[in-house]
Amino acid sequence: MVTDRTNPRSSVRTAVVWDVVRSALETIKREAADTRSGPSVAGTVPLDIVDVGGGTGGFAVALARLGHRVTVIDPSPDALAALERRAAEAGVSDAVRAAQGDLATVFDVLEPECADAVLCHGVLEFVDDPAEGCRTARGLLRPGGIASVLAANRTAVVLARALGGHVAEALAALHDPSGRFGVHDPVPRRFGEQALRDLVTQAGLSVRAVHGVRIFADLVPAAAADAPAGSGPAANVTDLLALEAAASALPEFRAMATQLHVLAGLDEA
Ligand SMILES: C[S@@+](CC[C@H](N)C(=O)[O-])C[C@H]1O[C@@H](n2cnc3c(N)ncnc32)[C@H](O)[C@@H]1O
Repeated sequence: MVTDRTNPRSSVRTAVVWDVVRSALETIKREAADTRSGPSVAGTVPLDIVDVGGGTGGFAVALARLGHRVTVIDPSPDALAALERRAAEAGVSDAVRAAQGDLATVFDVLEPECADAVLCHGVLEFVDDPAEGCRTARGLLRPGGIASVLAANRTAVVLARALGGHVAEALAALHDPSGRFGVHDPVPRRFGEQALRDLVTQAGLSVRAVHGVRIFADLVPAAAADAPAGSGPAANVTDLLALEAAASALPEFRAMATQLHVLAGLDEA
């Protein structure tokens, strides 16, 4: 396998989410091709995707390369500038819109029900009100659309602090309602699987799948997670990708994943 660092499928930290999202978009695309008129890309209708907190556009640019129209909402001007450079380098500037804003004020920038898919990756940890954030994500969706929600798993930080020898912090994270290991923890909040499912469901979305992300990627030596395939016996990224994929849906493994991914849908009325 040739590693393409611009392709989320190539990275052990993003491949599981990429595969789930891509497959869900394929389904929507097939349905849209039957019902919508308008421009088509390779015989199918391009979808409208909003990536809230999309940062520098790792997913947005890859989705644009698949032929979709992607809007990235992010409060960080630096991230948006990097996104625009990345989109230009990939030749997809026309399909990527960068808008400064945040989840709480997204309707200042976008219309309700404007999207076939909303990505909210690594954002619910930081917003003031995650429940309101999920309702906003739902409000962006057209009926039949999907939400891809990725958030830090509170179990994983307990494990990570303990493995690093920070046992008191592991204990603090275990007991803290927000899953924080102490005052120096840079992440305001982490989620358990049930809490994340509840947030999504209470926003009016139906949970379709839950996966564990980075179950092994943050535990193996860095060389194994980052090195291209074929660069040595300890650096077989192909095997690591397969291991992450195989374990991602198994409850006993996803319980300790660094992140939890929920794919949810807005059911048609
Ligand atoms: C951990 S990064 C994740 C970036 C990207 N989604 C990813 O998965 O690689 C969090 C991103 O959320 C953005 N962010 C922080 N607070 C936000 C808010 N209230 N609404 C939307 N985005 C926010 C940050 O600027 C940053 O780009």
